[in-house]
Amino acid sequence: MSIVEKFVTMDYGPAPEDPREAVAWLDKHHRRFGHFINGAFQAPLDGKYFDTTDPSTTEKLAEVAQGSAADIDAAVKSARAALPAWQPLSPHARARYLYALARQIQKHSRRLAVLETLDNGKPIRESRDIDIPLVARHFYYHAGWAQLLTQEFPGYEACGVVGQIIPWNFPLLMLAWKIAPALATGNTVVLKPAEFTPLTALAFAEICQEIDLPPGVVNIVTGDGSTGEALVAHPDVDKIAFTGSTEVGRAIRKATAASHKKLSLELGGKSPFIIFEDADLDSAVEGLVDGIWFNQGQVCCAGSRLLMQESIADQLIAKICDRMNTLRVGPPLDKSIDIGAIIARVQLDRIQRLVDQGVAEGATCWQPSIPMPSRGLYFPPTLLSNVHPTSIVAQQEIFGPVLAAMTFRTPSEAVELGNNTVYGLAACVWSESINVSLHIAAQLKAGVVWVNCTNLFDASCGFGGYRESGYGREGGREGLLEYLEPSWFKNAPQLHPRPLAIDQPPAQLTEATADSATPPIDRTVKLFIAGKQARPDSGYSTEVRAADGRLLGEAPLGNRKDIRNAVEAARKATAWPKSTAHTRAQVLYYLAENLSQHREEIATRLADVVGRNQAATEVTTSIERIFTYAAWADKYEGSIHNPPFRNVTLAMQEPIGTIGIFCPAEVPLLGFASAVMPAIAVGNTVIAVPSELYPLITADLYQLFESSDLPPGTINIVTGRPHELLKTLAEHDDVDALWCFADAATCATAKSLSIGNLKQVFTNEGRSIDWFNPAQSEGRFFLQHATQIKNIWVPYGE
Ligand code: NAI
Repeated sequence: MSIVEKFVTMDYGPAPEDPREAVAWLDKHHRRFGHFINGAFQAPLDGKYFDTTDPSTTEKLAEVAQGSAADIDAAVKSARAALPAWQPLSPHARARYLYALARQIQKHSRRLAVLETLDNGKPIRESRDIDIPLVARHFYYHAGWAQLLTQEFPGYEACGVVGQIIPWNFPLLMLAWKIAPALATGNTVVLKPAEFTPLTALAFAEICQEIDLPPGVVNIVTGDGSTGEALVAHPDVDKIAFTGSTEVGRAIRKATAASHKKLSLELGGKSPFIIFEDADLDSAVEGLVDGIWFNQGQVCCAGSRLLMQESIADQLIAKICDRMNTLRVGPPLDKSIDIGAIIARVQLDRIQRLVDQGVAEGATCWQPSIPMPSRGLYFPPTLLSNVHPTSIVAQQEIFGPVLAAMTFRTPSEAVELGNNTVYGLAACVWSESINVSLHIAAQLKAGVVWVNCTNLFDASCGFGGYRESGYGREGGREGLLEYLEPSWFKNAPQLHPRPLAIDQPPAQLTEATADSATPPIDRTVKLFIAGKQARPDSGYSTEVRAADGRLLGEAPLGNRKDIRNAVEAARKATAWPKSTAHTRAQVLYYLAENLSQHREEIATRLADVVGRNQAATEVTTSIERIFTYAAWADKYEGSIHNPPFRNVTLAMQEPIGTIGIFCPAEVPLLGFASAVMPAIAVGNTVIAVPSELYPLITADLYQLFESSDLPPGTINIVTGRPHELLKTLAEHDDVDALWCFADAATCATAKSLSIGNLKQVFTNEGRSIDWFNPAQSEGRFFLQHATQIKNIWVPYGE
């Protein structure tokens, strides 16, 4: 046999990692762990424990406490008690704690990697070379932010006590993504690890002790979904950060709707892996191995949908099968293993069920003939081809080593297929043409797009989804904002609920007004949809009266159908999102100019409702506000990150899409301008429900729009019974975000009704906003809610 033949046929020998240190650590704790509360391990209050096992053998590793509501309460109390000392700590002191955590993680990195592999089943290569180094990187990076916090975020403060719930696929990494930014910004934490993988979180708890982190700053309560539920429901938690399934994310949105808890959700995905015919196919296949077989495919951003340009499909499939034949499935502690064990029996069964269903729906299943371990929970790498885009395996997250392959012909078809799921977490684009890649990346609805690379992560680059993949970002500057609130907002008083004028029976005309010498002005206003004045579908109008009861005019009673028409118009208004920032700025300036020309008449009419002084100030401030957003339109830009790889990451600010806006009642003109202008300045289209106090403002507004070059459908206005309209907007699946400025109960309704397509909801939390004060009512706070960041990773070099 020649050397070359030997080299090609040579088999792998076993290369097992020594687990003794990790095992000794488990033994040191007698393989039984309580919760970590107030700086110490504590037995669960009701004495209940459950087993955590090694999925590669199904053997028990240890017992951990099953957290009850009482345990959660103790942990929240401990976090609350720690807050007054932790929050005012100097930035440097907090930075030192985070730095110490990073250093200690590095010192124990091998033990943590082995423990992670034992508990999770992922290959040691991954836990050792990817997970744990990234964990340390997150603490280093955020030590830096702790140091810079007051300089870089003046006027912001920590949310307070933060509840964090994490999944089992990257146990310690998800902990780091959650705890590092929370601590850096001055929050204290109660974290619940996933029931399948609690061990590295408990090892982290011990590290907190080792670096003398003040007791109560980090608390870890183990347990299952019911423990998570108790944490979400606890009234003294100020923010919930969740990573896990979309289904649980929805339940959490609903459960927190009636509270002021800030919420970030990092949910599932069904990410497209798009390969164009000009791609370097061998590199793309290697990328695919990382994209779908990394961590057994149990990755929220796994490239689980392969979209191949038709011309290269056969060639590519052959290469993929060849490569799959060389993948090694086996004991994850073996350093030459590619694919480890599946987390749990229930997950293994779920994968099989979905594959079977995919085959029943017409897919062809191919699995390589490679040796499979005889015990433990394993699933072979699997390729499903001829998958129909509507098949369950093309639509649902399988969360296993299963690739669903489809073809496309043209770039626009690739985008259409790429966006053809409810998710929007990540995407990969492979093409040697940078023009094509960036053109496609810009059109994909995904929070992260990897160009000619895959599954790269760094603390400096935000990570998070579009659409039903959730909202909020982890990492980067934007990740910090999830744990901060403007001080004025956090401490603003509650708005007093006011009876909704339009929902009330019309006030009776008083004798004095009825007999008035001046006849009432007949103002019949219409809805404004797709750039046209429109009669309401109902054919009804409702009277609008002045503060003194005088009839001012009639406002159309829009209904569900009108909202649906308005949403359709907003979605079709593609000219606006596609227009340049410069064009948007110009249109806004023009709007302000036109408002200025009509200021007297508009103020005179508005004065009937809000009084002369407020009316005049509203008009003046509205002109300024529109100028502000004209100014922002071409300045609210993204940034470029330099993660420690050979690439740049372009953090693009993108509009969210179509936003439903429930305008504040108390300032009819200024409220509309303050809420709608930031949304359109960055390229969203809007359906606005104007102030119920004075819906007649609609007529003044559409006259402005009609004379200001605003493309039809950019702003649509529907008046009617506010709560009925809010409900329709909140439940409409083509509305991407909902803004609601109202009393606390209305804000809660908006949040709880928004769960269908998991729209992003921005409300005043029932708090009073001073709309005349620009420090509160304009600028970045609003623009942040009008945009979402897409991180596009672009490699460079040979
Ligand atoms: P899951 O969403 O049920 O669990 C994630 C975390 O949430 C765990 O810590 C769990 O204990 C907790 N949890 C469960 N129910 C809860 C509730 N009602 N309130 C508060 N916390 C709760 O995910 P699971 O069951 O482990 O996996 C099911 C599927 O979810 C997977 O097959 C996969 O498709 C998806 N998934 C997605 C993840 C991602 O990173 N996007 C991570 C884990 C699962």
